Amino acid sequence: MRLNDFKLEVYFDKYEFTAPYLLCQSDCESMTIEELLAYEPGAKEKFMKNWLGYTEVQGNPELRTEISKLYKNISEDDILVHVGAQEPIFNFMNAILNPGDHMVCMFPVYQSLFEVANAIGCKVSKWEFSQGGNGWVLDIDELKKLIKPNTKVIALNSPNNPTGYTLTEPEMKKIAEIAEKQGIYIFSDEVYKGLELDGQSRPWYADIYENAVSLGVMSKAYGLAGLRLGWIATRNSEIFDKMVRFKHYTSICTSGPSEFLSTIALKHGHKILEKNMSLIKEHLEVAEDFFSKYPQLFVNNKPMAGPIAFHQLNILQPVADFCEDLVAKKGVLLLPAGIYSFDGNYIRMGYGRKNFAACLSKFEEYIVENDIV
Ligand SMILES: Cc1ncc(COP(=O)(O)O)c(C=O)c1O
Repeated sequence: MRLNDFKLEVYFDKYEFTAPYLLCQSDCESMTIEELLAYEPGAKEKFMKNWLGYTEVQGNPELRTEISKLYKNISEDDILVHVGAQEPIFNFMNAILNPGDHMVCMFPVYQSLFEVANAIGCKVSKWEFSQGGNGWVLDIDELKKLIKPNTKVIALNSPNNPTGYTLTEPEMKKIAEIAEKQGIYIFSDEVYKGLELDGQSRPWYADIYENAVSLGVMSKAYGLAGLRLGWIATRNSEIFDKMVRFKHYTSICTSGPSEFLSTIALKHGHKILEKNMSLIKEHLEVAEDFFSKYPQLFVNNKPMAGPIAFHQLNILQPVADFCEDLVAKKGVLLLPAGIYSFDGNYIRMGYGRKNFAACLSKFEEYIVENDIV
């Protein structure tokens, strides 16, 4: 198996720990272990007594119970805990796809969602977002046209990275109907779930379609990426067993302390999500004022959910050069569309970090000083 470079991770490797103004991060503001433990009386003492041996392959039962409470039709036995969200993407694709299979994937999207399938030798068709008058849009009729007799998987990412688009429940049901006709599996990366800006939560895919795999994680909406803890939920026992057997070759099990801390975080999940949601909303308002000052320069493309958005930048030079110059001169990091292999002058901005306003004003300094307006 030969994997192409993961463009986004290569870019972050270069800048994430050197650029002082990270204006494109996809995770919400994090916290210390001490701050997390403070959510639950007595948790600090229990944490110190954590056993550092191996944990269960499927994941700690108490943790799985907390995860299953997020769902309507999923029990703790339908949850398989993993290291972050990247491991289960890799494992699902490897456990389920064979060379020659066809997959349809939302696009643009987090690269591993189609790249692992490419590396396995599958043919991947892109179901592309287009820019509507009011943000990004998807056409379900287009999806129908992309389905082939050998389509095995539809890979979705909703809320989407980078567009901030989230499928509505009727759209989710329509896609499930298309998949069901042909027994197609749905792999649904839902790592930004819980941050719907219209306040209406959507179901998890595993709740509405038996052959769906829902992917969740502590990294994004909860802002706890350092725990490296994610999970899949599915009612399809064949997929589940294949993924367990694949996991024997990857992480075997997750870290016990991370499982403990994730359990605490999920028990108090609504408070953490509320905190992160109000930060995102505050930052989106700051950004709206900023964009309205430069109407010729930006198309806002407001997100529907999550901490990221994919804005259009009306400049003549390639957006990748613009971003390189910006980080070199001002230390402000933006993600150019080329990182997603997506054409056009788009930039990803992140709204979940506390220092958003400071990062944005550095960006504005650059625009003004360089006469970009
Ligand atoms: C859509 C999506 N899926 C998966 C991941 C990987 O998450 P993790 O860092 O928890 O492995 C990311 C990270 O940016 C993501 O945006």
